[in-house]
Amino acid sequence: MSIPTPHITAKYGEIAKKVLMPGDPLRAKFIAEKYLQDIVCFNTVRNMFGYTGTYKGEKVSIMGSGMGMPSIGIYSYELYKFYDVDSIIRIGSAGSLRDDVHVMDIVIGMGACTNSNYVSQYKLNGTFAPIANYELLNKAVEVAKLQGKKTVVGNILSSDTFYSNDTTANDSWKKMGVIAVEMEAAALYMNAALLNKKALCMLTISDHIYLDENLSAEERQLGFSNMIEIALDI
Ligand code: ADE
Repeated sequence: MSIPTPHITAKYGEIAKKVLMPGDPLRAKFIAEKYLQDIVCFNTVRNMFGYTGTYKGEKVSIMGSGMGMPSIGIYSYELYKFYDVDSIIRIGSAGSLRDDVHVMDIVIGMGACTNSNYVSQYKLNGTFAPIANYELLNKAVEVAKLQGKKTVVGNILSSDTFYSNDTTANDSWKKMGVIAVEMEAAALYMNAALLNKKALCMLTISDHIYLDENLSAEERQLGFSNMIEIALDI
C-alpha cells in the first residue's frame, strides 16, 4: 500500500507530524477555520475532512476520525503508516461514570480499557493494556495547569456500543475506577503501540451515565474550546 490511501487523498508532506482528531469531520473544519492560519484542505473522501495549517507558527493538521474503533483504526493507521505522522491527539467527548466528574470537565485517558475485540488481531497470549504516550500526557497536564484548567487523568473505557441492551454494562467498569466512556481511544493507542508512534486521548464530558446532566449547545462549544486550546499547545 502507498499514498494516496483508500481513505486519504493527501500528497506526501501535506499532513503535519502532529494531528488533532475530533470524531466529527465538521468539527475538524470548524477548529481549523477558527484556530489555524493558512489552512489547506487535504482530504474530502467520505467527507472525512482534513486540514493542515499553522498554529503559533507551527504546522499542525486536524482531521475527523469518525465514530468507533474501526473508523479511528483506519484513519490513524493510514496517518501513522503512510503519511509518517508522529503524534495523534484525539479530542472527543465522553459520558462520565464517576460521581465527582461532571459535564464540561476535561478527562485525559492514561489507559483505555475496551469491550471491543480489536486487540485479537495481535494474537497476544494475555491482556494488552492500551496506554497514552507519557510525553504527550505529561505535556497536556502541564499545559492545562498553565492555562488554569483542571484535568482528571486515568482510565477510560472505549466501548463498541453507545446504546447497550445491557443497562448495567457500565457498572463493573465504574467499580474498577474507570472515569468515562467513549468509543475510540483504545484502537488509537493500539495502532500507536504497533507502529511505535505517539497517541493521546483528551475528552470533554458531554453527558453523565448515572446523573441527570447534559450540555447545552453553548456549553458544549465552550467545553470543547477549553480542551482544543490545551491540545493545540501540547
Ligand atoms: N461519547 C459521549 N458520550 C458517550 C457515551 N455516553 N457513551 C459512549 N460514548 C460517548
